[in-house]
Amino acid sequence: MNTLIKGGTVVTAEGERRADVLVSGEQVAAVGERVDAPAGTKVIDAGGAYVMPGGLDPHVHMELPFMGTVSVDDFLSGTACAAAGGTTMIIDFVIPAPQQSLLEAYRIWRERARKATTDYSFHMAVTWWGPQVFDEMGTLCREHGVNSFKHFMAYKNAIMVDDATLIASFGRARDLGAICLVHAENGDLVFRMQQETFERGIHGPEGHPISRPPEVEGEAANRACQIAGVVGVPLYVVHTSCRQAMDAIARAKLAGHRVFGESLVQHLVIDDSVYRDADWRRAAHHVMSPPFRPSDHQEALWGGLQGGTIEVIGTDHCTFRTDQKAMGKDDFRKIPNGTGGLEERMSVLWHHGVRTGRITPSEFVAATSANAARIFNIHPRKGTIAPGSDADIVVWDPAAHRTLGAARHHSRNDFSIFEGMQVTGAAAVTMSRGTVLWQNGKLSPVEGRGRYIERPCFTDYARSQAVRNAHFAPHPVERQEFVP
Ligand code: URP
Ligand code: ZN
Ligand code: ZN
Repeated sequence: MNTLIKGGTVVTAEGERRADVLVSGEQVAAVGERVDAPAGTKVIDAGGAYVMPGGLDPHVHMELPFMGTVSVDDFLSGTACAAAGGTTMIIDFVIPAPQQSLLEAYRIWRERARKATTDYSFHMAVTWWGPQVFDEMGTLCREHGVNSFKHFMAYKNAIMVDDATLIASFGRARDLGAICLVHAENGDLVFRMQQETFERGIHGPEGHPISRPPEVEGEAANRACQIAGVVGVPLYVVHTSCRQAMDAIARAKLAGHRVFGESLVQHLVIDDSVYRDADWRRAAHHVMSPPFRPSDHQEALWGGLQGGTIEVIGTDHCTFRTDQKAMGKDDFRKIPNGTGGLEERMSVLWHHGVRTGRITPSEFVAATSANAARIFNIHPRKGTIAPGSDADIVVWDPAAHRTLGAARHHSRNDFSIFEGMQVTGAAAVTMSRGTVLWQNGKLSPVEGRGRYIERPCFTDYARSQAVRNAHFAPHPVERQEFVP
């Protein structure tokens, strides 16, 4: 089956130009000013719209067992949300219980993910340490295409790891050619501050940010960056929410360490006033870690995105319904942490980022797709529109208006943290490996058509050097592909 996407402006991380895109089967066959299509080719008229690589969100949690419950979006509803918002691939996290085999957990997650409608991949969390973990990290890299290992520096007495584990795992990842990720919050400090906050009589959601101030995140981000620098492993800091953590990342970059920053679209547009909402339900639905911050941190994050400290805007999509949030009705420490955003990510970033002039369309593509594809080593298969790339494509209507909210989203959550937000810019068509999943506001998910995407390790210095430079110097070969 061939499809010609005609008359649009093709945008990649490298630039934009008027071009047609011919899709043959699951891949892009040609990109050019006037592409001849074989008879019988289906035509999508992109007249006036942008044609961009489908979004890649490298930070989501579908049906995650967490804090005594399970996040409500599964791999089908979650990837359907993705498609409705213009995202064509997610990277979820396998999180083994302490002492559980990594390979066993990996197989469980593979099974859960079989119903996905878009493509997906997995980071592996290292939640404990021992010879078995050392060996299984190697097997995962070599045989299962897992090139990234996540470390929770918070969630004490659950999945948090100490510095000794961090150091051992970072060293192993370095030797395998993998990249490390961290959730950067000082878990011991959080634990202590939670206790103190609760004992002071603060039991509601307003206790959540009090017990996790920016310094707690900044300290952990700095520690992770410094350890990664000493060990010599690339590091990706997830959900950077505050100036202190950004400063740590910026310092490490300046010192020459290969450190990448991710922020969430939620943190760019929502501040900590949400925790003072008189409606318990609304406040509790914003409980996530790190918490929402005073608004000056948002400006710092936008600056970080514009200036290159932050390479990726993800969502950490991890949804809990009101009945689940109510587990912490009398104790904020028991409110399951997490918010959604996968369906809204691209529209919210376009509206608040591109339309305000903070970032260009190409920088938008870099932050929502291309940079993650490079950092996690699946570029140019994903993250660009070029001959041979997977036909993961979004036709983006910059003039489409949407009012965001739970009545219209495709998530199973009964709440939207974006309720009532008006945005301009939305996916008109989302195509996943040549199949249209979203068009004219209609979702056509196909259960089980999503594919697991293996991500090879960086096997030599040249490859990792390419990643390091990814954000700063467009790859010359890709640039050539766009010379008419
Ligand atoms: O609150 C959050 N972020 N929940 C999901 C788990 C995590 O920390 O990423
Ligand atoms: Zn986290
Ligand atoms: Zn997360």
